[in-house]
Amino acid sequence: MEIEPEQAFRRVMSAFATGVTVVSAARDGGGVSGITVNSLTSVSLKPRLLLWCLGDESARYDVFAAAEAWGVTVLGAAEEALALRFARAETESIVAAEMEMFTGAPVLRAGVAHLACRTHDRRVAGDHLIIVGEVVDFRVQPGAALTFFRGLYGRLDDPRTGSS
Ligand SMILES: Cc1cc2nc3c(=O)[nH]c(=O)nc-3n(C[C@H](O)[C@H](O)[C@H](O)COP(=O)(O)O)c2cc1C
Repeated sequence: MEIEPEQAFRRVMSAFATGVTVVSAARDGGGVSGITVNSLTSVSLKPRLLLWCLGDESARYDVFAAAEAWGVTVLGAAEEALALRFARAETESIVAAEMEMFTGAPVLRAGVAHLACRTHDRRVAGDHLIIVGEVVDFRVQPGAALTFFRGLYGRLDDPRTGSS
C-alpha cells in the first residue's frame, strides 16, 4: 500500500538526526509548562537568534505562542524520560524543585546546555508558528547527547571528552 504524502514527508525528515530539547515558559495563570522540541535551529550570531516551530494543534499552543521569556534545555543521553514526559500535555507541568530561573527564563535543572530567550519574532508557516528567540544567556557542560533519528531516541557520546 502506498504511504500518505504526509507520512512520507515525516519519514524523510526523520532521516535528519537532531538533538532533543525542552522549551519551557511560565503560564499566565501560574505554573511553568514544558514541551519536547526537536525543531530548534540556530539562526544568527549577531544578534544571537535561534528559532523553533510550534505546532498549531498543540494543547499548549497558547502558552508558548504568547510567551515573551522562555528557556531551552538541551537534554542529555540519560534524559529520554523527560523527552517522553514533555511530549504529553498531561505531564507538562514543571515543578519548582526541577527548575531554576536562568536570566529571567525558566529552565530544567537537568540537561547539558541551557539558553534563556526573549521572543524576537513570530511567523505563521503552514500549520506551525515559527518562534524566533533572542538568546540573552547560555551555558553548556560536557556530556552525551540525547538524539532523535528515524523516529527513535538514541545517544551520542561527547566527541571532545568521550564523556557519557
Ligand atoms: C522528539 C520530539 C520532538 C518534537 N518536536 C516538536 C517541535 O519541534 N514542535 C512542536 O510543536 N512539537 C514537537 N513535538 C511534539 C510535542 O512535544 C507534543 O507531543 C505535541 O505538542 C502534542 O502534545 P500536546 O497537544 O499535548 O501539546 C515533538 C515531540 C517529540 C517526541
